[in-house]
Amino acid sequence: MNPVISLRGVRKRFWPGPVEAVSDVSLEVREGEILTLLGPSGCGKTTTLRLIAGFEVPDEGTVEVGSRVVAGGDRWVPPEQRGVGMVFQDYALFPHLTVEENVLFGLNRIPRREGRERTRQVLKTLDLTPLLRRYPHELSGGQQQRVALARAIAPEPVVVLMDEPFSNLDAHLRESVRDEVVGTLRKAGVTCIFVSHDQRDALAISDRVAVMNRGRIEQVGTPWEIYKHPESVFVATFVGRTNLLQGFVKNDHGCVQTDCGAFCRVEGSGLPQGTPVMVSVRPDAFQACDDGVLTGEILATKYTGAHVEATVAIETENEERTRLVVHLPATRSYVVGEPVCLKIVSEFASVVRNSCQTLGFSSPAAGEGEPAESEVLAPK
Ligand SMILES: Nc1ncnc2c1ncn2[C@@H]1O[C@H](COP(=O)(O)OP(=O)(O)OP(=O)(O)O)[C@@H](O)[C@H]1O
Ligand SMILES: [Mg+2]
Repeated sequence: MNPVISLRGVRKRFWPGPVEAVSDVSLEVREGEILTLLGPSGCGKTTTLRLIAGFEVPDEGTVEVGSRVVAGGDRWVPPEQRGVGMVFQDYALFPHLTVEENVLFGLNRIPRREGRERTRQVLKTLDLTPLLRRYPHELSGGQQQRVALARAIAPEPVVVLMDEPFSNLDAHLRESVRDEVVGTLRKAGVTCIFVSHDQRDALAISDRVAVMNRGRIEQVGTPWEIYKHPESVFVATFVGRTNLLQGFVKNDHGCVQTDCGAFCRVEGSGLPQGTPVMVSVRPDAFQACDDGVLTGEILATKYTGAHVEATVAIETENEERTRLVVHLPATRSYVVGEPVCLKIVSEFASVVRNSCQTLGFSSPAAGEGEPAESEVLAPK
């Protein structure tokens, strides 16, 4: 299937800034696909959207929308001729226009009567018909969000770009609006690029996720691939909680030996015996049991509803202690200092593919794209 959007080797630097906001980005988005650009603040997500929409000019590379080069070489197609709808983070609704007029505003290229008809249809699809005479200040955040979406999809764009569309909503409204918006986009078969720094949103709504770090795309894949088989230390630690363990390939059956024992059938370990690797082990990889291979002591607990996230000090084979984050069943409570016995479920362990290049095993340097919320637990 031909991509609807294609970026090749796109670079953008803001002068006199010393670093590139977008650095050699190549990406394809397929028809009807929902792709999320996920990454920390300042990594270049909005700039990438603006390059696609035509609000920024790339320094290098090409941008194609709907099989047409819109930027690159000596081609330049202005934003209004690209067939791209954009929903801005702050919605950017016109405060002096009603809901209906806001949506109608973008339809000035088609006859007025037809425009009104399409506006009514889109407002109906998004459950906004009862609000069509209201002004933006008379709407809740979630309702404004839907009006912004209605305005973006009414001209039937080739693609809709949405910049952090759910960030202004409270946790409860956020999920319902998110699911509603995604349902609408899917029903209409609209190709969409979301921008988010929230990995839960990205994993929940996307067909594929592109993880960005410092202007570059580090990995593109389905949510499952990104979570289970991160290709870099950055992706492993930014997308969910993980434990990073040093080890080496033990045999050719996919076993990796670490200080916390052997992880077998580990994805991505088809490397020569003895190769030093880093393994990303999700907290779900450990199960409490009576006779597990790992023994340790609970240092801290956090109740999350679905499970208890516990930090456990593990006694390793060389008699040192390593901290691991593990998920324990929420069926009972745990106390600090309590002994715990764990077995390993290798399905949640994966060799960080690009880690061979970075060994020495240094964790990402503090402040260099390391996510604030996520905890990297390299062995002590
Ligand atoms: N117009 C501009 N002039 C100068 N620098 C800019 C401009 N726009 C963006 N930048 C810089 O480019 C980098 C990428 O910015 P961008 O807005 O794309 O990040 P982002 O990933 O969207 O971040 P956030 O999650 O905070 O919105 C940042 O360092 C930012 O300061
Ligand atoms: Mg941004």
